[in-house]
Amino acid sequence: MRIIFIGDIVGRPGRLMVHRHLAKAIKEFNIDLSIGNVENASGGFGITKKNMKELQTYKLNVMTSGNHIWDKKETFNFIDEETHLLRPINYSSLLPGKGVYIKEIKGEKVAIINLMGMFSMPSVDNPLVAIDKELENLKKENIKNIIIDFHAEATAEKRTLLMYLKGKVSAIFGTHTHIGTDDLEIRENTSYVSDVGLTGCNDGVIGMEDKAPIERMLKGISSKFSINRNCDKIFQAIIFDIEDGKSINAFKIKAFDEGEFHKSLETDC
Ligand SMILES: [Fe+2]
Ligand SMILES: [Fe+2]
Repeated sequence: MRIIFIGDIVGRPGRLMVHRHLAKAIKEFNIDLSIGNVENASGGFGITKKNMKELQTYKLNVMTSGNHIWDKKETFNFIDEETHLLRPINYSSLLPGKGVYIKEIKGEKVAIINLMGMFSMPSVDNPLVAIDKELENLKKENIKNIIIDFHAEATAEKRTLLMYLKGKVSAIFGTHTHIGTDDLEIRENTSYVSDVGLTGCNDGVIGMEDKAPIERMLKGISSKFSINRNCDKIFQAIIFDIEDGKSINAFKIKAFDEGEFHKSLETDC
């Protein structure tokens, strides 16, 4: 089966780029399942139910998240019903929602897991302990196709997860930094990239208008982050093939504004 994984979708420009490019990519690359990180999909902070439904109409099947998932207070009220919207599995069990979603594709079960790192992040349970427990559950259900969105700041943490899980899961894709990295590889049949990179404005700072980040860096004072609607936009995602739980091929696609797809970093094993 062929899956597309989109990194952090930031604000209205991010949703617009999903609208412009996801359905087209599904058709052009013959994709069976789409996954995207939506923690910044509504104004850069969290996700509203309205925007979640909007992204579904653009053919986004499964939505992962991260530290910004609780930014919109309404999320607490609907996340339990919308099981395709994940929150990191290692967030407190006192919070609503689930960190794993199981979907059937072509008669095979696929588990999508959302996991969060510890460095420079809110307090979460140890990700390695949490993932071990979840993989044990999936083993009992005989689910081999396992995709992890590892939402973390530090590349070393992401790389450590790869070394811990290589050969045990189908794919580990990093999110959160919003900066796409060029280290896409398949190691022991596990696809990996440190960060997929954002979908949204490409001419600011991690999808945000540059005024507030410059002010903060220059003077050490915080002002409100906002998203420039008239920006240069990017869509970026990883497309990969799984057979019997093993990644066999992976590549990256990028599109700028209304342009064509650029394919790069192709790798197989
Ligand atoms: Fe993000
Ligand atoms: Fe994040």
